[in-house]
Amino acid sequence: MALFISLEGCEGCGKSTQAKRLTAGLQRHGYRVTRTYEPGGTPLGEQLRRYLKKSRDAAISAEAELLLFAAARSQLTRNVILPALKQGHVVICDRYADSTVAYQGYGRGLPLDTIATVNHLATGGLQPDLVLLLDMDPSRALQRKKQPRDRFEHEVVEFHERVRYGYLELARSDPSRWTVIDASGSFARTTQYIWQTVSPLLDRYSLLQQSPE
Ligand code: TYD
Repeated sequence: MALFISLEGCEGCGKSTQAKRLTAGLQRHGYRVTRTYEPGGTPLGEQLRRYLKKSRDAAISAEAELLLFAAARSQLTRNVILPALKQGHVVICDRYADSTVAYQGYGRGLPLDTIATVNHLATGGLQPDLVLLLDMDPSRALQRKKQPRDRFEHEVVEFHERVRYGYLELARSDPSRWTVIDASGSFARTTQYIWQTVSPLLDRYSLLQQSPE
C-alpha cells in the first residue's frame, strides 16, 4: 500500500517550497516519490491552469470554475496519481480536492454538498491519507508575494479569510487525516514540523523502497 499526502493552505503559505523539501527528504530516505500539483500535472491540466490563473476573464462563473478545477483533477488522478500509488510511490500533491471545498465552497460560496458530489466524480473517491494544512494569517501570507500575479491573488483579503476558515473547519471535522501546521515561522521551522508529522507514518505503510545504489 502506498501513501498519498496533500499539502493545502492559502497563497504565500509556502506549500510549493515545502512540497519540494518533503520530496527531497523522502528520497534521501530511499522512498520513491511522485510530486505533482493542482491544477496541472497533465497536458489538459496545464491548459486549464493557465486559463484559471491568468485569465483576465472576470466573468468566469463560480460554477464553471468549479468544473474546470474538477476536470483537471480527474485527469491528474487517473493519469498520474493512481498509477504512481499502484507502483508503491509516495505521492505528494500540492493541493487536491480540499482546495475546491475551501476556495469554491467557503471562498466563492458554492453549496458544499454539490462540491462533494463533483469532487467524488473527479477523484473516484480517492482521498489523501494525510492532509498537511499550512496555516497562517492570509494577509501576512499574501505579503510574502511581491505582487499579486493571478486571479486568486487579486481577491480581497476577506475571500482569503473565508478560505482559511474553510480549511480549519475541514481539519476540525477529520482530525485523523488532517494535521494543521503553523506556517507563520521560518521555512526551516515549517519543514521540521512537516517531517515530524510524516516520518512516524512511513513505518506504518509498506512502501517499496529504492534499493541502495
Ligand atoms: P497555485 O499557484 O498552485 O497556488 P499557490 O499560490 O498556492 O502556489 O495556484 C492555484 C490557485 O488556484 C490558487 O490560488 C488556489 C486556486 N484553486 C482553487 O480555487 N480551487 C482548486 O480546487 C484548486 C486546486 C486551486
